[in-house]
Amino acid sequence: MSGSTYRAVTVTGRRQFAVVERERHEPAPGQVRLRVDACGVCHTDVLAVEGLRQDASTPVVPGHEIIGVIEAVGPGVEPVWRPGERVGVGFLGGQCTVCDSCRRGDFVNCEDQPQTGLDTDGGYAEVAYARATGLVRLPAALDALAGAPLLCAGLTVYTALLSSAARPGSLVAVQGIGGLGHLGIQYARALGYRVVAIARGTEKSRLAAELGAHEYIDSTATDPGAALRQLGGAAVVVATAASGASMSPLVRGLGRRGQLVVVGAAPDPLEVSTTDLIFGGHVVRGSLTGSSVENEDNVRFALDQSVRSSNEVLPLSEASKAYERMLSGQARFRVVLDARK
Ligand SMILES: NC(=O)c1ccc[n+]([C@@H]2O[C@H](COP(=O)([O-])OP(=O)(O)OC[C@H]3O[C@@H](n4cnc5c(N)ncnc54)[C@H](OP(=O)(O)O)[C@@H]3O)[C@@H](O)[C@H]2O)c1
Ligand SMILES: [Zn+2]
Repeated sequence: MSGSTYRAVTVTGRRQFAVVERERHEPAPGQVRLRVDACGVCHTDVLAVEGLRQDASTPVVPGHEIIGVIEAVGPGVEPVWRPGERVGVGFLGGQCTVCDSCRRGDFVNCEDQPQTGLDTDGGYAEVAYARATGLVRLPAALDALAGAPLLCAGLTVYTALLSSAARPGSLVAVQGIGGLGHLGIQYARALGYRVVAIARGTEKSRLAAELGAHEYIDSTATDPGAALRQLGGAAVVVATAASGASMSPLVRGLGRRGQLVVVGAAPDPLEVSTTDLIFGGHVVRGSLTGSSVENEDNVRFALDQSVRSSNEVLPLSEASKAYERMLSGQARFRVVLDARK
């Protein structure tokens, strides 16, 4: 970063990354300019990198697990936010505040809310611009590189669990132990549930126990639905794997009126037996990350409960490598870009 220019990493939807120099400009009304410190690499970044967005030929900067410092504010932003404050930005890039959903306080479903790193440039850059309504106030104790994944991965599993029917002592399963799942196990444990981790293979059994899981199910060795039933049936399963087929057997692992909360976005469908749904009184529903206000609660909860993202840090210039590492499923468990390097 020199003077008025900054580095940004763009993609156009053909899994090609380009490092470009950009000119800083003044933030628009209601927006701030951030100096980015760190940005996590979320699996949802595939939508930008692989071209699954509206105009995939226009370059966009991916990344929506951003921690940075406000450099400049546009008209109408002060005194709520001031230069020098450290803030976070997640996937939902700030509600409009005037649509019907916003007036009901339902900010997640705002009708005019940009998705960071898809509709607007995100955090694979030294500088980012964001709507002030999308900013998350951060405790000073939260380190940027350590904390960035809480802004999407953490928030998503936190709201999925809190909005579910689980109560302390409930049997709660987290399926898929990647960026979201490894945090999901920790949140579920901190919320007082009996926690079951479900993943492929034996390697993650030890890791799941270290993260706080009471039980581990290897979905390659056994039917995870049957295994959950043997444990008494789950009140809630939070499914984080990017695979619909992998979620289908989980419905049969639910207890009566149990809920499958789908957060993993998959190219293939999830199949559900109608009679399983009817006789079990089961619920299958989706859950979309959360609002900036929920994110402030989420970050405080994570800090208080020592919920920590396990991260592999790479410099911004290696964004392409970071993305491939995330896709490989080998990262333990989140890749985070250091925008200061
Ligand atoms: N709902 C939301 O608001 C929201 C927010 C953020 C992300 N997401 C979505 O959530 C999903 C997970 O994101 P992430 O960042 O956690 O991804 P990630 O770090 O790549 O982790 C995904 C994990 O799912 C597991 N997995 C993949 N296929 C599986 C299968 N067939 N059976 C069992 N496990 C499987 C993989 O573990 P193993 O290979 O070791 O089994 C992998 O570790 C993505 O689809 C992402 O787009 C949704
Ligand atoms: Zn995300």
